[in-house]
Amino acid sequence: MSAQIGVTGLAVMGANLARNFARNGYTVALHNRSVAKTDALLAAHGHEGSFVRTETLAELVDALERPRRVLIMVKAGAPVDAVIEALVPLLEEGDIVIDAGNSHYEDTRRREAALAAKGLHFVGIGVSGGEEGALLGPSIMPGGSRASYDSLGPMLEKIAARYDGVPCCRWVGTDGAGHFVKMVHNGIEYADMQVIGEAYDLLRSGAGIGPAEQAGIFTEWNKGELSSFLIEITAEVLGHTDARTGAPFVDVVVDSAGQKGTGRWTVVSALELGSPVSGIAESVFARALSSQRDQRATARQVLTGHEQQVAVPEGFVEDVRQALFASKLVSYAQGLDMLGAAAKEYGWDLKLDEIASLWRAGCIIRAELLDEIMKAYAGGDKPANLLFAPAFAGAIAAAVPAWRRVVATAVALGIPVPVFASSLAYYDGLRRDRLPAALTQGLRDLFGAHTYRRTDAEGTFHTLWGGDKSEIEAVDTH
Ligand code: 6PG
Repeated sequence: MSAQIGVTGLAVMGANLARNFARNGYTVALHNRSVAKTDALLAAHGHEGSFVRTETLAELVDALERPRRVLIMVKAGAPVDAVIEALVPLLEEGDIVIDAGNSHYEDTRRREAALAAKGLHFVGIGVSGGEEGALLGPSIMPGGSRASYDSLGPMLEKIAARYDGVPCCRWVGTDGAGHFVKMVHNGIEYADMQVIGEAYDLLRSGAGIGPAEQAGIFTEWNKGELSSFLIEITAEVLGHTDARTGAPFVDVVVDSAGQKGTGRWTVVSALELGSPVSGIAESVFARALSSQRDQRATARQVLTGHEQQVAVPEGFVEDVRQALFASKLVSYAQGLDMLGAAAKEYGWDLKLDEIASLWRAGCIIRAELLDEIMKAYAGGDKPANLLFAPAFAGAIAAAVPAWRRVVATAVALGIPVPVFASSLAYYDGLRRDRLPAALTQGLRDLFGAHTYRRTDAEGTFHTLWGGDKSEIEAVDTH
């Protein structure tokens, strides 16, 4: 029997996606560089559905119905290129190569163009939800040609998570759009985790609330507007006791956070797009700072904090909840704003309501909030920024007093809250009537004749700083 899809790369994500397809009634051809992994998968899960065992890529390709669909799930970077190189000579016009890893969207754009020139479809899909999601229903963000989605989309939608019966899978745009959207998802994921971490630190170091008690607080928070997967698992992690020591698990884990790259890529791309994703950037930098263990050890010896021993204000736990919610909203607003900027830059027709709808279930940042975000962009009157949507403008305004109290308290106590504070600065920066950018422009004009525009006249100007300081009209040099 011909298989409807082939999967090469059977580490846990690839294996679970293959099982998911099979459990949903598809015949799945399996391939892995070492056959032992294929056999292990078949031994443990072969009964779950219809699989075809293959030992080489040529056998994999031969096992597939046409157009062939081959899903690659190997480590991002050179390994993906190596598989493509081996696969392409075996394929025929119209076949579809799918990269389901966390590839960089520029790689995906390059690969898509190269394969399109050979008459092949290359589809970069963002897959979120971790190992369990891959098996039981991930959120899927497919890019590539629209035509390829006609053949591939129904299968992806079948294995995807569902929210109110709607699959969390939808074509998001051409070439690298799927991987770009997944990358920004991960940027938001970083920020989401960092704001949770800041809330935990404030409650622990500021209010003296231990992990076990905090587990209860996060469980409560998960019942309200913060309801989300990450808040839910925060309660689980904080409530966990280390079996070896009996200590709270969080106290035996080394406090240096790793990263595989997608958060960093989000920030690099945002810098190139000129997109102010300050909360996401701070969360990437917070991980980087946490990893500078030697410098941190020295800093504890040589740097003085002059913390003020202030008592946390009454109602602090609720204040922290509100500050967390407001900062989280800002991260989502910044991520979605960046998607808007990327759509213009890369010619993608990214629909923010549809992207929010994909994130409502299956993915790591799934949250109640995303249904509201989807609705905010669903109408004809799309907000230029998520925070301008009436529902969110009202929600964040309600949180501002608590947010300011929390940031002020954190500063006084010397508890770093980079995302709480930078998100508040973004919010204030957006709202401010006059920004000191006017002075920046003056300085740039003085030292580099970079010119400026006036508030009271059209045109571009330069002041003759080295001469009589008169003003002349100039060519805009930005
Ligand atoms: C997901 C996750 C997943 C993974 C990333 C981030 O959506 O399922 O984002 O892709 O957790 O690799 O990992 P790092 O924190 O290591 O960058």
